[in-house]
Order: sequence, then C-alpha cells, then structure tokens
Amino acid sequence: MKLYVVKDKATMGKKAADVIAAEMQTTPHFVLGLATGSTPETCYAELAKKNKAGKISFENVITFNLDEYAGLPVKHPESYRSFMDAKLFKHVNIPMSATHLPNGNAPDLDAMCEEYEMMMDKVGGVDVQVLGIGRNGHIGFNEPGSSLASRTRKVKLTKSTKEANGPYFKAPDKMPDYAITMGIGTILEAKKIILMACGDTKVDAIAAALEGPVSVTCPASALQLHPDVTWVVTKDAATGLKMEWPEQD
Ligand code: PGA
Repeated sequence: MKLYVVKDKATMGKKAADVIAAEMQTTPHFVLGLATGSTPETCYAELAKKNKAGKISFENVITFNLDEYAGLPVKHPESYRSFMDAKLFKHVNIPMSATHLPNGNAPDLDAMCEEYEMMMDKVGGVDVQVLGIGRNGHIGFNEPGSSLASRTRKVKLTKSTKEANGPYFKAPDKMPDYAITMGIGTILEAKKIILMACGDTKVDAIAAALEGPVSVTCPASALQLHPDVTWVVTKDAATGLKMEWPEQD
C-alpha cells in the first residue's frame, strides 16, 4: 500500500495521472478501469494534457468504467457515458470503440453484466483501476452491505448516494434508483488500484477504509486485501487517519 497525502485536488489529480501514465508507458495494450464523479476530474484533465503533449498515447488503450445508471438514456447529460466523453474521451486519442461502460438500458441486465465481466477477462483484465470513494465508503456503486466477493450487477442506490449525486441532476427526483456496478470482487481483480479522495466530506470514509476493520460496512476497506493499492488523498480528507503521513507537494 502506498499513501500520498497532498495539499489539494489539483495536486491529487497530477499525482494520480503520473502514476497512471507510468503504467501506461510500460504496459502494452493497457487496460484502464475508470471512475466518474467530481474526484477524478483533475486527474483526467492531466491525462489529457499528457496526451496532447505526446507523453502518453491512448491509441492502444482499452477502458472499462466501473458503473452506469440503470434506465437513464445514454445521451442524458448525467449519464456516465456523457461524463466520460466530456471529461476524458473527447480530449484524448482513444478510439471510441475501445471505451466500455455497462449498458444500463440492456433488455437483460443480468446477461449484460456477465458479458461485461467476460469482455474484461478477454483482454487480460484491468491493469489499473481508478477509484473514488463515497462518503459512506462505497466504491463504484457498491454500497455498505455489499458482499466483498460481489460481481458486476444491478444495485439499488442508497439515500446517502442519492443525496450526494442528486444535485447533479436538473431535477434531482429524476435521478435513477438503480445502477449497474462492477462488484467489489471484480474491482479487487485489477492488477493495480489507485484511489483518490478529496474534501472533508471523505474524512470518515478514508479513516474507515484504511484503518478500520475489513468489513461490508465500509466497502473500500476491502482494498486492504489487495497487494497494490495507491491512495492519493488531500490533507483535508486525511485528518481522521491515526497513522503518520508525510505531506507531499
Ligand atoms: P465524488 O464521488 O467524486 O463525486 O465525490 C465519489 C464516489 O461516490 O465514488
């Protein structure tokens, strides 16, 4: 486990992008697991900058996103496909056909979930999985109580997640109640994981994830079971940690 405590969200994004870029440069046919939410925005902007500067190429990269709302039109501004197009895919040289998100509108969602896992397996699994963390410790849409062995599936969103994400919707009551998410077991199969967290709303989640027991009450605590997790956390999100951490630039 590596922990970087950094001063702000911009520095967090730079640090995370450096870690991802280093892996991209040394891994042919790189498979990148992606997350949405406000946390990874600065990281994606940095990756786009590196791509523009010719330091990294997405030409042979394949991506799989963690999650997507169920029943929300793909073109809806709050769909995770729209988010990824706007924040990353449109700004880098990735072929759109190499970008994957769960299809929340598939007629048979169980079959779609199974196929999503098979597609990841077929390309050799995820090399680096990017994660944010919910205020309640969720990763992807694996809410507290999710099995640590869970796989890609349809889930019901909790009140806490609806409160956190509702304001992004023009009509918050129109936010879907369900989503498709990679499971915790799926996420743990990535070769490397990088989790970013920023802001004081994440203090309890970060403390529980890093220093609490491995428990379904904090899904991110399952990352303690993974041999290669890098945590990039702003100092205002790290104030609940008991361990000592040197602050990085
Ligand atoms: P946020 O969400 O980046 O918008 O805080 C993170 C998450 O819920 O995983």
